Amino acid sequence: MMIENKTPGKSEGQTFSITNRYVELKVISDHHFRKQTHQEHEALAAAGELNEYRLQRRIKGELERIAPDRLFRWCFQSHCLPLSVMVSGVAGVGKTTLVQKFIFDWATGKHYQKFAFVFFFKFREVNEQKMSLESLICQTYPHLRDKLPRVLEDPEKLLFIFDGLDESKTDLKLRRGGSHELCMNPGDVKPVTVIVASLLKQTLLKGCSVLLTSRPSKLTSLEPGVFHRVASIVGFLSKERERYFSMFFGDERVSREAFAYVRDSQVLYTLCYNPSYCWITCTALKPCFIARAGRPQPAPKTVTQLFRMRDTLISVGWLAEYGITDRTLVFQPHHLQVANVVFSPFLTGFLVENPQAEGSSQVTYSFLHLTIQEFFAALVHYLDYKEDKFRDTMAKVRSCKEGDYEIFSCFLAGLSHPATRMPLEKYVGQLKFSAEATHKVIGWLSKTNYEELQSREDPEGKRRLMNILNLLFESRNSQLVRDVVGKDAHMDFSELYLMPVDCTVLAYVLSCCEEIQRLTLDSCFIQNEGLERLRPELHKVRELR
Ligand SMILES: Nc1ncnc2c1ncn2[C@@H]1O[C@H](COP(=O)(O)OP(=O)(O)O)[C@@H](O)[C@H]1O
Ligand SMILES: [Mg+2]
Repeated sequence: MMIENKTPGKSEGQTFSITNRYVELKVISDHHFRKQTHQEHEALAAAGELNEYRLQRRIKGELERIAPDRLFRWCFQSHCLPLSVMVSGVAGVGKTTLVQKFIFDWATGKHYQKFAFVFFFKFREVNEQKMSLESLICQTYPHLRDKLPRVLEDPEKLLFIFDGLDESKTDLKLRRGGSHELCMNPGDVKPVTVIVASLLKQTLLKGCSVLLTSRPSKLTSLEPGVFHRVASIVGFLSKERERYFSMFFGDERVSREAFAYVRDSQVLYTLCYNPSYCWITCTALKPCFIARAGRPQPAPKTVTQLFRMRDTLISVGWLAEYGITDRTLVFQPHHLQVANVVFSPFLTGFLVENPQAEGSSQVTYSFLHLTIQEFFAALVHYLDYKEDKFRDTMAKVRSCKEGDYEIFSCFLAGLSHPATRMPLEKYVGQLKFSAEATHKVIGWLSKTNYEELQSREDPEGKRRLMNILNLLFESRNSQLVRDVVGKDAHMDFSELYLMPVDCTVLAYVLSCCEEIQRLTLDSCFIQNEGLERLRPELHKVRELR
């Protein structure tokens, strides 16, 4: 449980101890999370890099930095010793890892010895199940079965952790009444989300502590005041990124070379505020920087090997795509069967067997990380284009809530660019990426209703506009950008916090256009880094505000 995900690649099969890889994350306590919009959270997430101004302002005001070992300490904002704590952060920012470290430190006696028992559950694993708290505990911790009544006797000594609310298929039922009455006894059989709500509301095991993690998008639908403390993970600031590289590569010289390489790439470097991108970047760079020492992974040599890999990629791709559209992250053996996926060593680079719960005979599988699943889901549309599938999925993408399908769409757009997919082509054999898929994706991008978005003045509208520009950026298709943005474009981003990565996108869009009528960057808190990216293209703007 205390180990990091496996890194992709067969030779990387080992796991790492959390003590060798863990880099302290920046976490801020944020009592007023409900007032924040999704984009503000995103901006906060990148705040380390850029929004120093805003961050400092807010730290002085309602935000305080909080070390993870203080999550259950006295909270000045709510004037209480918190019992219910929410840790929020965007995908891959390190919520699960932080919780694992929290448990590791508790287990090794570093903090919170007031808890005699810490129970850890993942929403994705307890989804859709109706059971009692007792059976939930026994399922994961069978050795407690006989002692359970005694264990639960003193709720103040108990901490319940539920990881990944965003990965739950059902929402928390916090309100009283309705069809979901909260439960009172550990033996009451209810949907897991009701049990969690009851623990939070203290109708069950009054006095126990509860820690939840979630992506920020799920928070806005929660009732205010349920959590005594809300902490947002900001991710890695520059120093932590460097430290991560050094821990990852071990070798001082190699890590310095790799870090310098990433620093040079604007997009890669800014994305590395997110630990999972750090991890993916380091893993992808590893063979390039230490190829001299080891042997490169054997590439397929015969046509048959190539084709076998291609078939495997396609079946895994459909599995991933089914999961993305159906919100399934944990796959049962029958899912694999239906998708024609045969679990093989080749697959362990991206699909992993989950550790089996004691007493359960059922093996389950999931992708190494959600981003990897989204990548495969996008890739399969190119490798095995099916008109009806594509149409259905795109209908879902068009009608989804903000945040859903965002990464999938990025990959879909990105793979339409020949140079981006070239390195992949050697793995998919002679059968090329479908031209039809490329055509359809470009069609989808060009049909975005740019006019309408341009005229919207609400923050969501502006953020959506930025997201669409981001897709255009991914597609690297300057003709497409010109067609979509049009000749007399007005772009108003006022009061939207623009991160350096947004500025890079905007600069790209400007570079594709001959002229932009008006660009409003008022109160966007653009920092030097962002400004430097924009500067070479600003002469294209007729009216800059
Ligand atoms: N504090 C950290 N130190 C080192 N690596 C981290 C840290 N946090 C996250 N990571 C890396 O990022 C990956 C994704 O993190 P994870 O905790 O799964 O994110 P989340 O739960 O927020 O989606 C981890 O597998 C790990 O490789
Ligand atoms: Mg997680």
